Amino acid sequence: MPQATFHFPPGFMWGSSTAAHQVEGNNTNNNWYSWENIPGHIKQDQKAGLACDWWGGRWKEDLDRAAEYGQNAHRLSIEWSRIQPAPDRWDEDALEFYRRIGRGMVERGLTPMVTLHHFTDPLWLVEQGGWENDDTPLKFAAFVRRVVEALKEYASLWVTINEPNVYTFSGYVLHDFPPGKTDLEASFRVTRNLLRGHAAGYRAVHEVQNSAQVGYAHHHRPFLPLQGWSPLDRLIAAMVNQVFNFSFPLALSTGTLNFIYKRARLPELLHTQDFFGLNYYTVDQIGFALSPADRYIQHHVPKELEQSESGMIANDPQEFFSTLHWVNKQGLPIIVTENGIDDASDTVRPRYLVEHIHQVWRALNFNWPVKGYFHWTLVDNFEWERGWTQRFGLWGLDPATQVRTRRASAEIYAEICRTNSISSAMVERLAPQLIPKLFPG
Ligand code: BGC
Repeated sequence: MPQATFHFPPGFMWGSSTAAHQVEGNNTNNNWYSWENIPGHIKQDQKAGLACDWWGGRWKEDLDRAAEYGQNAHRLSIEWSRIQPAPDRWDEDALEFYRRIGRGMVERGLTPMVTLHHFTDPLWLVEQGGWENDDTPLKFAAFVRRVVEALKEYASLWVTINEPNVYTFSGYVLHDFPPGKTDLEASFRVTRNLLRGHAAGYRAVHEVQNSAQVGYAHHHRPFLPLQGWSPLDRLIAAMVNQVFNFSFPLALSTGTLNFIYKRARLPELLHTQDFFGLNYYTVDQIGFALSPADRYIQHHVPKELEQSESGMIANDPQEFFSTLHWVNKQGLPIIVTENGIDDASDTVRPRYLVEHIHQVWRALNFNWPVKGYFHWTLVDNFEWERGWTQRFGLWGLDPATQVRTRRASAEIYAEICRTNSISSAMVERLAPQLIPKLFPG
């Protein structure tokens, strides 16, 4: 068997990603809290509840785990409804809580990456129309300024908005996120305002902190035609790719939003990204269906690929590489801000993890400027409309007892992080099925 080691550049960031509502617990002042409390919205009517009890202090033990297991960075998010519980009220204690975490990360040798909006909105904002309201971008920028003032001592890496395309499609087209609408006109407004919010947030961060690096986290999910020979499937795939994968990033690079049947000139978007944050999980196949209830569209993850437990994610590292290829053309430093798989039994994750990180190494060999990789996620957490039915953690969690259980993937990832490499010896020991693929004789 050939012996080899794939090295990563010095200073490469290795981390995991989390989000406030999914880990903190007892977030009762945002749109997800009210959404969860309406039966039928979350699988099995589950609730975030105590989540991973980070608000109760368990962030310490989880970040200890991250550091002990070789990670040198961590991405977390700030809950807007805690910092600004009412339009005219700022909560200094909440800011102090996040300052403690910021200090805690630095003390543990974890570079903080801070997301300013990860799907949740304060209830008072929702009452004012949320992101449909054209004033929301400015309100967001005011919140951003407060947070950056408070955390600038510890953090200089910022993500304005997480997955604006998922926020818009899930909330305003597919109706499985709040506010549960199916309204194309509203989804256009929301996309435009999220873009404006990103740009206003970008400028707000830089006003307070000159040295900041600011981007957003883009969810990219390639849609392949279900039947390659079918012109209809190809047309549907092209349309969905354009609107879901490309409209937001192209608006930022061109200053024009092209959204299905509408267009908006937004020159203020230009030059508002210091890096490209990429969230990549899976590919999807999409095509025509004779079903008005499904809006004449069907989609599945490709059956021939290895799948996650719930069937939501396919292990397709090659498409991850193709996605990185496209991202590289944006001409910005790249940070993989999320990548992971739901797999309570940790059967597929070891392969998924190593194969996706291997593609990052391949990208680096073409000189594509990938600066870091953040795995989703550290400890099982509340997975939005799927509740606790999916387990993405390097550590398992029983939310009732708060007991954490290490999965084998945590050890594999630790070895990659500690050695800043993938070696044949490590793969042979920890994921031997991958040897012929990664180290062919
Ligand atoms: C989101 C995370 C989520 C993950 C897995 C991403 O789209 O940013 O919040 O938990 O997917 O479902």
